[in-house]
Amino acid sequence: MAVAKTRCVVLISGRGSNLSAILKATQSTDYPATIVGVVSNKAEAPGLQLARDAGISVSVVPNDDYADRASYDQALQVAVDAYQPDLVILAGFMRILTPGFVTHYQNRMINIHPSLLPSFTGLQTHQRALDAGVRLHGCTVHFVTAELDHGPIIVQAAVPVLEDDNARTLAARVLAVEHQLYPLAVRWFAEGRLQIDGARVRVDGMVGNTASLIAPVLE
Ligand code: GRF
Repeated sequence: MAVAKTRCVVLISGRGSNLSAILKATQSTDYPATIVGVVSNKAEAPGLQLARDAGISVSVVPNDDYADRASYDQALQVAVDAYQPDLVILAGFMRILTPGFVTHYQNRMINIHPSLLPSFTGLQTHQRALDAGVRLHGCTVHFVTAELDHGPIIVQAAVPVLEDDNARTLAARVLAVEHQLYPLAVRWFAEGRLQIDGARVRVDGMVGNTASLIAPVLE
């Protein structure tokens, strides 16, 4: 008998390239998760069309229609819960969430952030990484807690910052690894391999690798 796949709802506000990467992963029969709905606060989010093209149900809950964050998040919760998700995936969802919403999805809501957290929480991460002069930059998938861009870290990927980088070239290098990282984190969640232990996440079956990653590399 086939094992039921983990039901995922993806929240987006824009382009949807991470949604697309996860969608692609779910098309493989042995992938343990499926996207049952995509919810956006923006009717014009390009990512919605990606979902429709894939035959996935979409819902729009426009934030302009609500007087305050609490009433918006209540409406959002109703839209998300209508899909009966096991996992809520924030993929470029550009809203600060209320503690009530976060608590409702505690330990079953994840986010991808384009920096090596806890560095560069918030916006403009690539320019801020350049301004700070860091040699390694990257992205992080983490469980969502009430504090913005905090929460137990599941997995990170680092990329080098090159001499001639600008925010656009650096963002593109990070985005390429985001597209590898997010489907992987969703897979691990769906396989039941993630255990939250305080601020840390234990990943069952992780193979130890203590090799260093050194940047810059000189010829
Ligand atoms: C990504 O850079 C993600 O890390 C951040 O928002 C961006 C969303 O891009 N949270 P996309 O809509 O998935 O293309």
